[in-house]
Amino acid sequence: MIVAQISDIHADGSDLALERLDSVLGWLRRLKPDALIVSGDLVEADFANGYREVRDRLERLACPYLVVPGNVDEHGEMRRVFGDRFGWNSDRPLNVAAHVGDLHLIGLDVTVENAHHGDATPVLGWLADALASSQAPALIFQHQHPFPTGIDGKDRNVCLNGDGLAATIATTGTRVLGLTCGHVHRPLFTRFAGRQATMAPSVARANRLKLDGRDSDIVDPPGMLIHHYAEDRLVSHVVMVG
Ligand SMILES: [Fe+2]
Repeated sequence: MIVAQISDIHADGSDLALERLDSVLGWLRRLKPDALIVSGDLVEADFANGYREVRDRLERLACPYLVVPGNVDEHGEMRRVFGDRFGWNSDRPLNVAAHVGDLHLIGLDVTVENAHHGDATPVLGWLADALASSQAPALIFQHQHPFPTGIDGKDRNVCLNGDGLAATIATTGTRVLGLTCGHVHRPLFTRFAGRQATMAPSVARANRLKLDGRDSDIVDPPGMLIHHYAEDRLVSHVVMVG
């Protein structure tokens, strides 16, 4: 089973933002994933039009998809455009969950109003109920990262209460396969709550990799993660689309 993940589209009314999204979705159209998850920052300006443009493009991929907001999203407009699809009847939190094939895909809205950091605390009860409702292996996705990335200047705006999130995940035994997010505009791999933890590359312009005061001026093309689940194992692949 193949779950594609895209993140940080940052549609802003420009042709460039949508061209980058089209290039990623064009690649995905040939792969034909079983599901698509979008880990936040869909639109950053011209919100009403932006969400419609993004939704039209996601629908054309013709596979089940789920979205969660990021820190630049506008919850009210996002709910107006996607609410009928995800059963959202209030602006916060915009959580989503669905079974697709063998997997339980759970999207957490960890955003905090008017802030760039996230906080898992308000959605831990909802997550516990979602996890208790199914015995299927689960993949959790959200916008802000609940673990440090080590990238200079990028860990100020983490998802707070990672301990609480990890404790909620731990109650399920091994059922949660991993957690994946966006937000920093760089692909990376680590561990969280004893599970695989990943961050998808951005569709929008990537951040440069700066570690321990060392910098690079390499600019990455748009990209995505491809999560492949088979024989009770999750393997995540990076695809960059030049
Ligand atoms: Fe972003």
